[in-house]
Amino acid sequence: MSPSLFSRRGLLVGASAAIAGAACAEPPSLKAAAKRAGRRFGCAVEPQTLAADGDFRDLVAQQCDLLIPENAMKWNALRPSADAFDFAAADAVIAAARAQGAQVHGHCLVWHEAMPNWAAGPIDGPTARDRLEAHVGAVAGRYRGAVASWDVINEAVERNDRRADGLRRSLWLEALGPDYLLTALDAAHRAAPQARLAISDYGLEYDHVTWMVEKRGTMLALLRDLLRRGAPLHALSIQGHLLGAEPASFGLGLRRFLSDVADLGLEIYVTELDVNEQTLTGSAAARDAIVADIYRRFVDTILNEPAVRFVATWGLSDRYTSKTEMFPHADGLDVRPLPFDRDLRPKAAARALQAAFQRAA
Ligand code: XIL
Repeated sequence: MSPSLFSRRGLLVGASAAIAGAACAEPPSLKAAAKRAGRRFGCAVEPQTLAADGDFRDLVAQQCDLLIPENAMKWNALRPSADAFDFAAADAVIAAARAQGAQVHGHCLVWHEAMPNWAAGPIDGPTARDRLEAHVGAVAGRYRGAVASWDVINEAVERNDRRADGLRRSLWLEALGPDYLLTALDAAHRAAPQARLAISDYGLEYDHVTWMVEKRGTMLALLRDLLRRGAPLHALSIQGHLLGAEPASFGLGLRRFLSDVADLGLEIYVTELDVNEQTLTGSAAARDAIVADIYRRFVDTILNEPAVRFVATWGLSDRYTSKTEMFPHADGLDVRPLPFDRDLRPKAAARALQAAFQRAA
């Protein structure tokens, strides 16, 4: 047998094995599918769960090449008092990501929620500036090189607060004015010059919800203004908390918004994807089908935009989701917002995500 024939036969055997493998692709590998589409797939994690549940940890490692700390990098986790830091939980997320070769997206350096009591009250400008710069510098600096990208500011826009610029009247805004955004971005950039810095928000997803469409405009104006002022800003994080009760209106409006963001030279991250199915009724399979369709429509739309660099779900399995406490079903049905079920089996949503990445590849 000639060597070339031998190698051709080898190729053929290899190819048919690959096809057979694809045909019974159980479980899906979302990170592999995302990679072929030039993206990453990730999820939010709690270090306690990863440590306590080996099966869940294996699923995360198998599916994700990006991790986001769900709570471990918020002020109330990091700051027991004004003069102390507790990095244990945050360090554990970094260690878990390192162990599985995943990138880390940090969340979040500045937010009006999750503040410890000692830091929650109003403060004067100089104290606020010192506190903000010290916190952002210390946290971004500690994880320089370990955190690839950061939600530096979370949920800064609140149009109901009725300011002309649409900014939320947060503790930081009241003390420092709108400049707090630049102060925080500058401090993060000084401490971690390689990290990609993002502004994160919710309520940007739906084309038929008037306040969301208006919020897109507010957000674009804010991003444009920060860039004009020379802010070290590299990305917009869209949370992606989707709603089972709403029509999946992820159409031309969303596409246009994403391309406007990309035209500013920014990357786009989807950081907190899940589907609130609190109002859905019926069998688990029926609810899962509706949830999967919402995932499919949203992810198909956003993957049309090359600036979208990663998609992360807020948790991975229904076994661990903050929806259980925040949006339980009135009749005690199990909550099913995520791609994998409580038994860590892929649901229709996992297959929908996998297929969406395949279409985008
Ligand atoms: C949530 C966590 O999932 C909960 O465990 C915690 O009790 C409260 O915060 N938008 C955000 C996230 O930016 O940080 C929030 O996470 C969910 C809404």
